[in-house]
Amino acid sequence: MTTSTPKTIYLADYTPPAFLIDTVDVDINFQPDYAEVTAHLAVRRNPAVAAASLVLDGEELELLSVSIDGVVTDRYTLGENTLVLSHVPDVFRLSTVVRIRPDLNTRLSGLYRSANGYFTQCEAEGFRRISWFTDRPDVMSRYSVTLHADQALLPCLLSNGNPVASGVEAAGRHWASWQDPHPKPCYLFAVVAAKLDVLRDSYRTTSGREVQLGIYVEPGRLDQCDHAMAALKKSMHWDEQTYGLECDLDHYMIVAVGDFNMGAMENKGLNIFNTKYVLARADIATDLDFENIDRVVAHEYFHNWTGNRVTCRDWFQLSLKEGLTVFRDQEFGADVHNRQVARIHEVRGLRAGQFPEDAGPMAHPVRPASYIEINNFYTATIYNKGAEVVRMIQTLIGRAAFRRGMDLYFERHDGQAVTCDEFVAAMADASGHDLTQFMRWYQQSGTPHVKASGVYDPAAQRYVLTLAQSAGVCGNLLIPVTVALIGPDGLPLPFEGSIDSQCVLSLSESSQQFTFENIAVPPIPSLLRDFSAPVVLEFDYSDEALAHLLAHDTDPFNRWEAGQRLAGRLILQATEAISAGLEPVWPERLVAIVSGMLACSDETAAFAAEILSLPGEATLAEQLEVVDPDALHAARNSLRRYLACQLEAEFRACYERLAPLGAYAPDSTSAGRRALRTVCLGYLCEIDTVSYRAAALQQFEHADNMTDQFAALAVLAQGSSDESRLALAEFYRRWHDEPLVVDKWLQVQAASRCAETLARVEALTRHPAFELRNPNKVYALLRAFGGNHVRFHAADGSGYRFLAAQICALDAINPQVASRLARCFDRWRKFDAARQAHARAALNMIHDHAGLSRDVLEIVARALG
Ligand code: PHE
Ligand code: ZN
Repeated sequence: MTTSTPKTIYLADYTPPAFLIDTVDVDINFQPDYAEVTAHLAVRRNPAVAAASLVLDGEELELLSVSIDGVVTDRYTLGENTLVLSHVPDVFRLSTVVRIRPDLNTRLSGLYRSANGYFTQCEAEGFRRISWFTDRPDVMSRYSVTLHADQALLPCLLSNGNPVASGVEAAGRHWASWQDPHPKPCYLFAVVAAKLDVLRDSYRTTSGREVQLGIYVEPGRLDQCDHAMAALKKSMHWDEQTYGLECDLDHYMIVAVGDFNMGAMENKGLNIFNTKYVLARADIATDLDFENIDRVVAHEYFHNWTGNRVTCRDWFQLSLKEGLTVFRDQEFGADVHNRQVARIHEVRGLRAGQFPEDAGPMAHPVRPASYIEINNFYTATIYNKGAEVVRMIQTLIGRAAFRRGMDLYFERHDGQAVTCDEFVAAMADASGHDLTQFMRWYQQSGTPHVKASGVYDPAAQRYVLTLAQSAGVCGNLLIPVTVALIGPDGLPLPFEGSIDSQCVLSLSESSQQFTFENIAVPPIPSLLRDFSAPVVLEFDYSDEALAHLLAHDTDPFNRWEAGQRLAGRLILQATEAISAGLEPVWPERLVAIVSGMLACSDETAAFAAEILSLPGEATLAEQLEVVDPDALHAARNSLRRYLACQLEAEFRACYERLAPLGAYAPDSTSAGRRALRTVCLGYLCEIDTVSYRAAALQQFEHADNMTDQFAALAVLAQGSSDESRLALAEFYRRWHDEPLVVDKWLQVQAASRCAETLARVEALTRHPAFELRNPNKVYALLRAFGGNHVRFHAADGSGYRFLAAQICALDAINPQVASRLARCFDRWRKFDAARQAHARAALNMIHDHAGLSRDVLEIVARALG
């Protein structure tokens, strides 16, 4: 809770730590309603810094004693969340004893209780809620940990590193000691004391190290761990193959917990995961869940090198580990699933999440210059734009040089806490490229626009492409633009300097011309292939040119992109028509295109499903000056209905052709068939007839897997038919004991376009299945509603008022999650004056809420400011 005006932290104010802590010995004694934490720190003055006092961070700690070199002292000052020791020796042993209350810790930061025991979350600043410490990532220490607890209630006692000893104590209690040989920042500290089952396995690295693997889950769920274990072993192998990086541990543990603010956490040797990214079985997890588990398991594993061995100097450098690790997990996902579709998903995500963020009140550079609450900066910009920035480096210098850059980065910085500059310097030095100008990608916010135009001179057989970039506050960026020229016959034209008929142009000035010689026919340029830079590309393509690219471009991403551009343009035109009280008209051209896509092979089904999925409302809204969400929604659905009516027979035939071939398997080809089949069912149900609803209900009832079952439910839940009610009731009856499936049930109702959605969501907040204290439930119901473009932005402001009240209630429980929910208001200024007035009132109500956390305050103040 705020007691004073929150302080802004600036990157420019960084100073190295005044004291270093070489070793930390922690002893945690779990008692029924508190835990006692004793920490012994080997402290040493940093010779490079002249500071008299040692300032330690602490939050909600009940201090029991402080001693220096074994002698109890009262020569300290307690500030608001600080403990200051003046006149300390240059080298000394500091011991503190505190009492904490994990059972009352609803923020899920620090040490907290969940259903089966106790868990920790220390990133970014949770360690200070466990013990007094210099809670910053550039203080790295060797940890040893001893845990004491009731043996029957909390049989698993885990921490980072290796188990060194354990034993029993009086009164049915036991203890265990762990030692982590690798120095680490305290944000990577973890302990678990719980009753869990474990799935064990092992992995032998190329150099012969045997790593013991363990996945710890709630008792009775071992049959839901196989996929995560396989993902872990795949990740370990991939990192050896791709980057020559081996696991440095004897023990690698993953612990799943049902109460977790984020996806997962890369604590050294003891990852703690949201159950959502561990547990899976064909009957309760969808294809998307299986794929996400692969990605998140890989992500946390990859952090062991990019994040843990080389960590961040300060939290402004967060993207150093997150952008790079997302890039690595994206490449892993592309290699083990479907590269084309993976890239499309990444760009969809960027446009739906990061572009709006970059255009709104929370816009910040990949390396922010300031923050109030660091937890507010675990954003799409840090993670996803950060990954795009790393990808652009690879595009500019090439894969081989990128790999050399990674090698050099580890050679130089293993064991250090560094900045984004060091990463880029390694890439520059290993490749010989000058990346000075490129660094601006880390320094300025906002999505750049690149304007392209082309002129063909038939007499000179020359094509001249002009590229211009919008000016950013830091000046021009270095933008890689991958280009090919597609001929009228659909074939790419070779040109000088091209490899596989394409090249990477470096746009570094505000405007540049690129000349292509010996071009015999007027080409259509395929620009920004594979989305080579996170920019908005403007090129005046005719509808014919887009249809040509959609049919022929050899870059699959740009084929998809051409379709999105064409559909997006038509939907925006129709939105305008509807706003003006007119009927939208749809060109016939689309019908042939869609019909062609439906005739795809099994191998291209996933790609066809992407082409047939129209751009989302939030993405389209970014292109409008003033958003009329009702008209936009109506226009998009009108196009879906038009296509469904024109191609009813084709959709039906495709739906039938793609019926399951045998027992479920989550491989990408069969997942692709299911994805396209679901798209067909969705279109067919736009023709609101009993027979298609019956088909959906049939699929719902007979599916042998959650993907097909949930797909049918999601289609039905878009309407309020009897079939819809029936399926929703049946789904809950079947799955009320599976929390992750209940999340799906909540989410699908909150995301429904039905007019009664808000009323239903309100009712669901009082349903026994909902729990404000559980982040997954909040994300499933409340954030899904906040992302429901047409219903959250209801003209009467009811959506805004509802969510504002929920944010206030949640803030008292878990400010981090409340703050994520508050982000749903980010784009409120894009709407008409009446909606803005409602949104402003809702934001003011949150802002004035007594005891508001600085987490939510920062978001709301920026939104209003
Ligand atoms: N570092 C985690 C990851 O990206 C995310 C996280 C941040 C988890 C803060 C918990 C708290 O893998
Ligand atoms: Zn991460």
